[in-house]
Amino acid sequence: MTAPTSTATAVGQDLARLDGRPKVTGSARYSTEVPAPGAAHACLVGSRIAAGRVLAVDAEAARAEEGVLAVLTHENLPGIAEQPPLVPSLAGTAAPGQTFFPMQDDTVHYAGQHIAVVVADTWERARHAAHLLRISYEETPATTTFEQGRDQAYVPERIFGGWLPGRISRGDADAGLAGAELRVDAAFTFAANHHNPLEPSCTTAWWEGDELVLHDATQGVNATQITVARLLGIPRSRIRVIGHYVGGSFGSKAMIHDHPALAALAARAVGRPVRLALTREQMFTSVGHREEQEQQISLGATREGRLTAIRHHKLSPTSHFDDWAEPSIGVSAQLYACPHFDGVYRLFRANTMTPTFMRAPGEASGLFALECAMDELAHELGLDPVELRLRNYADASPMTGQPWSSSGLRECYRRGAARFGWQDRDPRPGVRREGDWLIGTGMAAAGYPVAPPPTPQRARARLYDDGTAVVQAATPEFGTGVVTAMTQVAADALGMPVGRCRFEGGDTALPDIAAAVGSSGAGMISAAVHSAGTALREQLVALAVADRGSPLYGRDPAEVAVRDGVMRAGSAAESYAGLLRRTARPDAEATGSWQPDSGAPYAMMTFGAQFAEVAVDPELGLVRVRRMTGAFAPGRVINPRTARGQLMSGMLWGLGQALLESNRMRPGTGRWTHASLGSYLVAVNADAPEVEVELVEVEDTVVNPLGVKGVGEIGQVGAAAAIANAVHHATGRRVRQLPITVEALL
Ligand code: MOS
Repeated sequence: MTAPTSTATAVGQDLARLDGRPKVTGSARYSTEVPAPGAAHACLVGSRIAAGRVLAVDAEAARAEEGVLAVLTHENLPGIAEQPPLVPSLAGTAAPGQTFFPMQDDTVHYAGQHIAVVVADTWERARHAAHLLRISYEETPATTTFEQGRDQAYVPERIFGGWLPGRISRGDADAGLAGAELRVDAAFTFAANHHNPLEPSCTTAWWEGDELVLHDATQGVNATQITVARLLGIPRSRIRVIGHYVGGSFGSKAMIHDHPALAALAARAVGRPVRLALTREQMFTSVGHREEQEQQISLGATREGRLTAIRHHKLSPTSHFDDWAEPSIGVSAQLYACPHFDGVYRLFRANTMTPTFMRAPGEASGLFALECAMDELAHELGLDPVELRLRNYADASPMTGQPWSSSGLRECYRRGAARFGWQDRDPRPGVRREGDWLIGTGMAAAGYPVAPPPTPQRARARLYDDGTAVVQAATPEFGTGVVTAMTQVAADALGMPVGRCRFEGGDTALPDIAAAVGSSGAGMISAAVHSAGTALREQLVALAVADRGSPLYGRDPAEVAVRDGVMRAGSAAESYAGLLRRTARPDAEATGSWQPDSGAPYAMMTFGAQFAEVAVDPELGLVRVRRMTGAFAPGRVINPRTARGQLMSGMLWGLGQALLESNRMRPGTGRWTHASLGSYLVAVNADAPEVEVELVEVEDTVVNPLGVKGVGEIGQVGAAAAIANAVHHATGRRVRQLPITVEALL
């Protein structure tokens, strides 16, 4: 018997964001805006030094201030129960941002490390009192620079919370490079990048007896729940985490940093709800960052432009307690057919917090290096850069030999190039001029792994006898459009119009969904929602065909199609609502669960191609990106409008990565040079050129039931490389650093 069918109509529609109105009218409540009568405010205090210990915190003046309720330091903060290991939040386990929890003793490992929490009845009083703390330190020399760290670098066994190996290799890269007819060797440097979503991280916490309620800005309410449960040593079942609206995240709220647990401890200490919001400045010291890094690439090729070997090495600082590197080498190992590959991560310990996920964590930096080197190779060979990439197209993973579950990369090259107008390009660098401006175009390939979660993902669907449905899963709306997209998925699975379905998420009281990281959200949540909606549809159809009172009585469920909430087989029909009312059922409910097939013999990756046109003023060192075209193959597109928004914003972040975003630790002090949006520059509307997004839909029957590969990060991958390659085309100059600064072009 085949399952009864619904006639899909909602998926693929340009539905406007359902969270748009509450957001623009201000009725959307973020985590520190939720009602919490009597709430006090907590202000975090960060260490002034980068290494050493806290000798004393004199809090007398602070405690004497009106309205001050508590000053918590290592001397009086209750100890945590357990420090969970660092595991990416997609695993569905505890996911602390680092394996160091502050204020357990007097040690200081990095500047800005939380060393006190001041709680007062208002934010202003808490902040004022925080300034009154007199903190004395014993300072020891800090490691803050590559010069200090280079010699002590080591190759870690695993990186990225233990998920990935410190080395990736196949074949014999040395031999492949030695035997190459042509070789490109290039070294790249990258400034550190910091997280600046609109909403800084924040938590409101209160206790109801021994039950804890947290409203938290998070990518995964259950990641917060499980992590805080372990840290505080209380059962997960006693913690409810809610996060309905989250003002952007991009990885800053993927791992669970220490502030939700600190908010809970502060609330217990003062016996009132506590709101804890990071300041913009604290976003630079409290939620991780994309680490400063150096990468070296060597490409070997034949005269025909076939890659013989790729060597990709990376060096970056990590914290004193965790081996974290964003996986900059993983995609290089898989993007091109090439027999020999050697990838190595090297780390050195520095006085920094553990770096973390930041949009396209690793891919955005790694493919900058690889795709700039490929452009150099194309130039050396006198080959068109698109043609070089086509000649090295991999129709299976070069690491495992497994075929892609779907690709679409060749279509991305073809359609992206056509839309951009690539074919008209004069390949010679430095020949197009408009007044003071040199004009150039460049391109790059993009790849981002598809990482299904290892745990089952669940959702629940309920239909009421008024003919409306609610579908629920724990995922928060952190700006991606997930609530809108999941309403569409639910509508199709149930066979109902979108307007009669509602999606609710952002609450651990709802069925479990892993934290939405690694572009996994749309795929895994749609799988759970589809499964719940389908289960409920099948339940209702089964009810109807078994019910003597139904016009559908005796029909084969396989002949029953559902549309607009009406079940039909031939001329017989009954609506869901009619069935429920007739049988005196106020509602019907089903849960659905999905777990990826970890044994599927396929490699899974999302592909794309980026094109950019720049104007460079060589006298002033200015770069203006004039237009960008990105073609991406993210599997099935649930909502083209929200998908385009994700991809376009990723491309614009790539522009920021290419030209603007930069941070460095100051030698000696270990403090970040930039800790505000006044000097840490992010791309804004005035920087935004014309951006075109080409969606190349590919069918994928492996990744998840709807074939959704995700659009959260692929838009950023390769964008900076396309811009740098365009700068070379404009000027003849290779800039092998990010960001590309004015000085680098003078
Ligand atoms: Mo994304 S950087 O994995 O939250």
